Amino acid sequence: MSSQPKPQILFRREEIAATVARLAAEVTKDYKDRRPLLLGILTGSFVFMADLIRLLDFPLEVEFLQVSSYGRGRESSGRIKVVKGVSSPIKGRDVLVIEDIVDTGLTIAFLLDYLRKKKPASLKLCALTDKPSRRQVPVTIDYLGFTVPNKFLVGYGIDWDEKFRNLPDICFVEGED
Ligand code: IMP
Repeated sequence: MSSQPKPQILFRREEIAATVARLAAEVTKDYKDRRPLLLGILTGSFVFMADLIRLLDFPLEVEFLQVSSYGRGRESSGRIKVVKGVSSPIKGRDVLVIEDIVDTGLTIAFLLDYLRKKKPASLKLCALTDKPSRRQVPVTIDYLGFTVPNKFLVGYGIDWDEKFRNLPDICFVEGED
């Protein structure tokens, strides 16, 4: 993709809002008396996290974790490093991981493994989008927003080369598939 691609809308902001409300209701049902730790994976989950937690009317805590993946372009290599870890104790907590996209699954599988070693009381995954056609390792998504086709997503916090995070809709750009 040499020139700047033009994003096309996949899910409009109204549809995203309805989906986030549906996820918030599911999460509320399961976590309202458990003071969970919501753990966002930077950077792509920050807009989703911000919208989701404002619909959760019960005690909770929020933290972010950052990983780097040594891949080429959009390809995950599976060689993943935690760049910013968690400062809150995980042991004995109900942890809900908030992710933007589960693509090959390599990143989240690594992270769930990393977190499981810290002995949380429970560990679940809430993902805004899932690209099952790209999966390389099995991943259980407990709360899922959208199943998406094999397209490169941008907007609503998700970037292409650090661009387009500020678009209010979930879009896709052509050119890399
Ligand atoms: P995985 O390890 O292949 O599952 O990749 C997960 C991460 O890759 C996501 O959290 C995103 O940061 C990034 N990623 C995967 N697909 C896309 C995409 O379509 N647009 C932007 N980033 C993506």
